[in-house]
Amino acid sequence: KIEGDTEPRAPVVTVMGHVDHGKTSLLDYIRHTRVTSGEAGGITQHIGAYSVETKGGQVTFIDTPGHAAFTSMRARGAKVTDIVILVVAADDGVMPQTEEAIQHAKAAEVPIIVAINKCDLESADPDRVTNELAAKDVVPEEWGGDTQFVKVSAITGEGVDRLLEAIVLQSEIMELGAIAEAPGQGVVIESRLDRGRGPVATVLVQNGSLKQGDVIIAGECFGRVRAMLDDTGQPTKSVGPSQPVEVLGLNGTPAAGDDFSVATDERSARELAEFRADKSQERRQATQQA
Ligand code: GTP
Ligand code: NA
Ligand code: MG
Repeated sequence: KIEGDTEPRAPVVTVMGHVDHGKTSLLDYIRHTRVTSGEAGGITQHIGAYSVETKGGQVTFIDTPGHAAFTSMRARGAKVTDIVILVVAADDGVMPQTEEAIQHAKAAEVPIIVAINKCDLESADPDRVTNELAAKDVVPEEWGGDTQFVKVSAITGEGVDRLLEAIVLQSEIMELGAIAEAPGQGVVIESRLDRGRGPVATVLVQNGSLKQGDVIIAGECFGRVRAMLDDTGQPTKSVGPSQPVEVLGLNGTPAAGDDFSVATDERSARELAEFRADKSQERRQATQQA
């Protein structure tokens, strides 16, 4: 809820659903790119975060993999998000990772918007999908439930505008706000060790702003932000609430889901990071002994 010094912020929307139901294709259509074809075998291996300008304002999308092995990523996705887009292929219906995504969203108390995808296919049966979802307690508004259902095709683009309108409508109800003028704070989406650039972390700023030159602590890692790249790879010097950004300059790769925050100085950041690392070392030793 917006109150006090808070300003409106863009919704953070996580796209979830069973493998190959068209999550990345749908995001590609919305972003007018072709990431899916660039992914090896079309399998999403990591979480992607994108900020998109829509008619109704900016929306931040988080893409997640549908494969069974990525359960913890979906759990994390549900945690950082305001809204879950549940993508269900109209020719396939509710599948195990569809059910899992529903559980994550409900556990995190995040509203769901259903996108029944692949409606361009002759074998599409959106009514069957709606019945299956209602049986899982995801009930359309027309049936007295509280969930918006939109029929779409990531190939033809049918229904995509309506999906974006549904997101904007849902986010307006939520009155999302954040404090823009404060030290940046948020969550790590993913991180990796890049050969040339060292540790690279994708973070989502949730409150305040993150600036080049800031010292941050992220989980058990810390460092001075040497450079930041937005989701198109462009360098940027400052990012505000609901914005995803790649951060260079950490001393290691924090875990996805770790919190990050701007520290007052490098020494206190180092001390806190080392303290956390020692604590988790102790915990590991304790579990080994048990
Ligand atoms: P994972 O990330 O691996 O879980 O898959 P995903 O849900 O991101 O699905 P992806 O976008 O990789 O699409 C899987 C396949 O379905 C691809 O071959 C797409 O071209 C196809 N596809 C996606 N959306 C549609 C659609 O609306 N209609 C049709 N006909 N095909 C689609
Ligand atoms: Na896929
Ligand atoms: Mg994908």
